[in-house]
Amino acid sequence: MKSLIVSATAVLGLLAATPAMANLELAKKSNCMACHSVDKKIVGPGYQEIAKKYAGDKTAEATLAKRIKGGTAANGGQKWGAVPMPPNAISDADAATLAKWILAGAK
Ligand code: HEC
Repeated sequence: MKSLIVSATAVLGLLAATPAMANLELAKKSNCMACHSVDKKIVGPGYQEIAKKYAGDKTAEATLAKRIKGGTAANGGQKWGAVPMPPNAISDADAATLAKWILAGAK
């Protein structure tokens, strides 16, 4: 029984280490999921909607990283409605990682 528990824990550890999970964890940790979900609008648009809107736009990754960090109002944003996204207290590297993940469909 004990070895069963140990191996189950090891499997969970492996799952948690996949890149997709790491990105979702980063989004949770960065408070993004308070306003966003992957597949539906909350305060901000769903990540899959965002990916659809910018599909094929090669400049989107850099633009969105800037808006994620600095907020949309100050960075040419407000593409979605009356409410701008406020700036988020994250590093440039994390903003770039999140922009890439979202544009890939947040999978
Ligand atoms: C306080 C709520 C809130 C939080 C927290 C928040 N967002 Fe947003 N987000 C919004 C709103 C509202 C919009 C739509 C903004 C607009 O139309 O200007 C948006 C838009 C976006 C967009 C699309 C921007 C565009 O120009 O099309 C991305 C990408 C995004 N958010 C990612 C994130 C990430 C990643 C985080 C976490 C670091 C985050 N958001 C945290 C509310 C939030």
